[in-house]
Amino acid sequence: MNNQIKRVGVVGAGAMGSQIAMVCALAGYPVVLQDISQASLDRGIQSLQAQMQKRIDKGRLDERQVDEAFAKISTTLSLHGLSDADLIIEAATEKLDIKREVFKQLDSIVKVEAIFATNSSTIVSSKVADATFRPDKVCNIHFFNPALVMELVEVVKGPHTSEKTAQIAHDFVKSIKKTPVLLNKEISGFIANRILGKLMDEAVFLLENGYASHEEIDLVCTKALNHPIGPFALMDLTGIDVNYFVRMQRFEESGNEKDKPAELIREKVNKGELGRKTGKGFYTYS
Ligand SMILES: NC(=O)c1ccc[n+]([C@@H]2O[C@H](COP(=O)([O-])OP(=O)(O)OC[C@H]3O[C@@H](n4cnc5c(N)ncnc54)[C@H](O)[C@@H]3O)[C@@H](O)[C@H]2O)c1
Repeated sequence: MNNQIKRVGVVGAGAMGSQIAMVCALAGYPVVLQDISQASLDRGIQSLQAQMQKRIDKGRLDERQVDEAFAKISTTLSLHGLSDADLIIEAATEKLDIKREVFKQLDSIVKVEAIFATNSSTIVSSKVADATFRPDKVCNIHFFNPALVMELVEVVKGPHTSEKTAQIAHDFVKSIKKTPVLLNKEISGFIANRILGKLMDEAVFLLENGYASHEEIDLVCTKALNHPIGPFALMDLTGIDVNYFVRMQRFEESGNEKDKPAELIREKVNKGELGRKTGKGFYTYS
């Protein structure tokens, strides 16, 4: 446990928020998980129950550990339920206006010493910090999907973030048994997704121009570069629409044509071939 952080509030109980809540609870933190949708809260907890059962079945955790972790998680539909938190991790839908409104409301609910972090994959914390009267206590804490499994977490210090806040966030990540990486300056996409983006661009370029099939490109990445999964299989896993929206957002920010999604990605999205979730992306799934 971290000295400064005794209680955690997580906003958004979707794919990321629910798992982040469990990661914190497994490390011993009491967590309040908030969402505007009861269905999302229910889905989040059900999904955690299924995933924890798998870990029990595989002998990675015992029932007592899982029961204790669930006992530390409470859920709420109201942001007021997070009033006692020392750290807020916001993992709501990836829309700037939603995130700004969440932080603005929380600012008058949560104690002034508390730290606010956004788990956004693309939105730097300076875009939300000025919605609060505590910009020095706002930063990015970016988990990877699935948060229960992925070890690395990017902590990003914006120009408004104090050294102390960045240090507490960094130490907190260590305390939940993850490996923190600290970015001293904020940049959209941070480190991993910027590097991955370049890899995916090149993979799509090679496919679009007929140099090789998507299977062969994936094979090179797994067998020559030792990546656990190729770029096309990965896009199918995360959703080709996610890739599309991230690129559109980057293009809207930069105005640079090079940041636009590739034509091939646009076609896939228009056809509804979004990857595993629709049964077809670059590959076909039964
Ligand atoms: N999915 C990923 O691979 C991934 C990886 C890293 C980071 N992220 C980031 O995590 C965040 C959440 O992504 P996700 O994939 O979990 O999304 P998701 O769509 O699975 O879940 C978002 C949740 O936010 C809730 N929500 C919407 N508006 C809200 C509000 N005003 N207050 C509280 N809850 C609200 C929704 O009901 C939903 O349950 C995004 O910022 C995303 O960029 C996603």
